[in-house]
Amino acid sequence: MKTMFENEVLPDVVMPACPILKILKGQKAIVTGASSGIGKAIAIALGHAGADVVVNYVAGEEAALAVVEEIQRCGSRAYAHKADVSREDEVRDLFERMAGQLGAVDILVNNAGLQQDAPFDEMTLQQWNKVIAVNLTGQFLCAREAVRAFKRQGVRKNVSCAAGKIICISSVHEVIPWAGHVNYAASKGGVMLMMKSIAQEVAPYRIRVNSLAPGAIRTPINMAAWGTPEAYRELLKLIPYKRIGEPEEIGRAAVWLASDDSDYVHGVTLFVDGGMTLYPGFETGG
Ligand code: BGC
Repeated sequence: MKTMFENEVLPDVVMPACPILKILKGQKAIVTGASSGIGKAIAIALGHAGADVVVNYVAGEEAALAVVEEIQRCGSRAYAHKADVSREDEVRDLFERMAGQLGAVDILVNNAGLQQDAPFDEMTLQQWNKVIAVNLTGQFLCAREAVRAFKRQGVRKNVSCAAGKIICISSVHEVIPWAGHVNYAASKGGVMLMMKSIAQEVAPYRIRVNSLAPGAIRTPINMAAWGTPEAYRELLKLIPYKRIGEPEEIGRAAVWLASDDSDYVHGVTLFVDGGMTLYPGFETGG
């Protein structure tokens, strides 16, 4: 199918101005894997919305510090903290320092994730283990620390009607099987039922747990899919809305899911994917 966007020129990403509406004012957030891509956009969006933000990263200190600066520019507190989310001791330190430095934790965005792709019969155990360790075990370790902190502190009535919010960054591949990426799809499928099971268990404590599932977003992780006009044209075949998503669009969805505007939203995955999960192969009939 030919679309009016086929020759679209890819725009530069523009830093948004600081918004006036500080809907997360007073809240303390932690975003894992926040030095680039979707994590960076979410950290900046939460900061712009008034939250103080811990910018977690595992590599790329300079990039993490630039995110911190952008958050501070708009009047929120922020600092960068290096930690590997797949390591229990480092995750514990990450949350302990946050309690000491910011005094509370209200929002966890479980974002850190990676891909190590290979044809299935060539995939090494190391590639399998690494992706599961960061994408799934890392989310478990951070969510567990966050729930412990939320239970200890209870509802902080002056900042939110929930005791805490967890947003797991999943993927369309929590439901779309993905050949050549079996470890990644397995990790995201795992995130889906982990998120729902935690949500069921902690709801009575007024802890909200949800997922955001991005489709194809313009970030370094998938540059091969959008970096050339040919690749981009191919990509559009998978997206009924006929454009790639921008990281800032995930940032805005995260702000809403973290805010009291979504207080009755619990245990669900919000797909932000331009319709990628709508079986685009059926666009022109079955
Ligand atoms: C992956 C990207 C991919 C997108 C859509 C994401 O979860 O990280 O590499 O482009 O899903 O397939």
